[in-house]
Amino acid sequence: MAKDTLTVTDNRTGKSYELPVTNGTVRAMDLRQIRTSEDDFGLMTYDPAFTNTASCVSRITFIDGDKGILRYRGIPIDELAEKATYLEVAYLLIHGELPTRTELDSFVHNITFHTMVHENIRELMDGFRYDAHPMGMLTSTVAALSTFYPDATDVHDADSRMLQMHRIVAKMPTLAAFAYRHRRGLPCVYPDNELSFAGNFLAMLFKMAERRYQPNPAVEKALDVLFILHADHEQNCSTNAMRGVGSSQVDPYSATAAACAALYGPLHGGANEQAIRMLQEIGSVNNIPEFIKKVKGGEGRLMGFGHRVYKNYDPRAKVIKKLAYEVFDAVGKNPLIDIAIELERIALEDEYFVKRKLYPNVDFYSGIIYQAMGLPMDMFPVLFAIGRSAGWLAQWREMLEDDEQKIARPRQIYLGEELRSYVPISERDNGFVAKPARPTKTP
Ligand code: SDX
Repeated sequence: MAKDTLTVTDNRTGKSYELPVTNGTVRAMDLRQIRTSEDDFGLMTYDPAFTNTASCVSRITFIDGDKGILRYRGIPIDELAEKATYLEVAYLLIHGELPTRTELDSFVHNITFHTMVHENIRELMDGFRYDAHPMGMLTSTVAALSTFYPDATDVHDADSRMLQMHRIVAKMPTLAAFAYRHRRGLPCVYPDNELSFAGNFLAMLFKMAERRYQPNPAVEKALDVLFILHADHEQNCSTNAMRGVGSSQVDPYSATAAACAALYGPLHGGANEQAIRMLQEIGSVNNIPEFIKKVKGGEGRLMGFGHRVYKNYDPRAKVIKKLAYEVFDAVGKNPLIDIAIELERIALEDEYFVKRKLYPNVDFYSGIIYQAMGLPMDMFPVLFAIGRSAGWLAQWREMLEDDEQKIARPRQIYLGEELRSYVPISERDNGFVAKPARPTKTP
């Protein structure tokens, strides 16, 4: 009768071991019993970039990369994009269930009434260079929020945790908009509590001399959907940072700043900005074959393509591609869409991309919409961070409430120098030439 176990034989000793298989995994710690002698530390796993390592048990987001499936708390992403609002989805991610009308009204009230930031934060923003990247400003000011809420350090108090989560979801758009206004040399626009989450963000970005900003309903809806699509994505790089930094029991503002820093990278949340730069560099559909040839020759990557988990079309990219045309109807077409569509068509027929299962991801089309909305490229990862804040916080809370979790501290394979003594400087070679760092020999 089949058993949920793995039997391994250590050929160094001839011993066999039976390891339990749970949820398709074996526990790394179960390998430590496999030793060649009493003073042998025991086997570890070696998995650079965690390509095949589950770091946690989670009940928030499910992805089937081969089938292109994404569900938040079991609900398919396309249903949520079509039927829900971002704050409804934020509640779902954090609490695990869709809110009742009363619960949603209370959640929306809590978020709406936490959108303001201390004036010192706005003044802090003034200290950045006129051309500071807004993602650098967001990362810094989210971290600075930790100094305004010392009560946030009690990460084991459920009420305090929930208050900080409300504050962070609410204040991310305000910080993002302040960063945008700073870059434009414009005065900050304070939150308008009469507007929706997305509408208020648009007002803080674009309000000028008019008495009250009226968001374009199509743009407001599209932005809310984009926040939903970016809200969570299981253990991606920035969520891993949120969990890892949060595992030290630091306050959630500092952990969120770490997640923002990870998202800033061009291979992660910065890819939507790089994808637009790539489309602009291509310039015309006629130049696509030459560009593809360069990528296949190892000269750069197709930004917005490929994914560590999706080996099929990113379901978010499908929704965004459709959403783009709804935005274009409202604000005018972004001509880059034609290059993007043709680039996708050509790439998906090319063996290089097909063999590597490279498909458009969430970042391939999102920048085209943001640009059509009038946002500059360096704001794109900032918008990603606004949507993802709910997911980061839901994952942070789940980590803190997981009895199996503790401070994250991986092991290593040491291949450095063996024991050696300090050499007094007088005895070192006077013709000293800096030695190149010895490469880490990958085992
Ligand atoms: C996000 O993890 C998440 O969930 C992230 C995210 C989220 O919601 O949080 O989904 C958001 O970050 C989406 C990804 C955005 N990044 C980009 O679009 C940047 C371009 N894409 C890549 O650099 C790449 O695809 C990654 C980083 C997304 C995934 O890289 P992997 O899984 O580490 O794959 P790899 O780098 O090992 O590549 C495997 C092969 C390599 O070729 P060979 O060495 O086998 O010859 O595929 C090639 C790579 O060169 N490849 C690409 C490519 N991506 C991978 N070749 C050309 N263009 C690309 N985009």
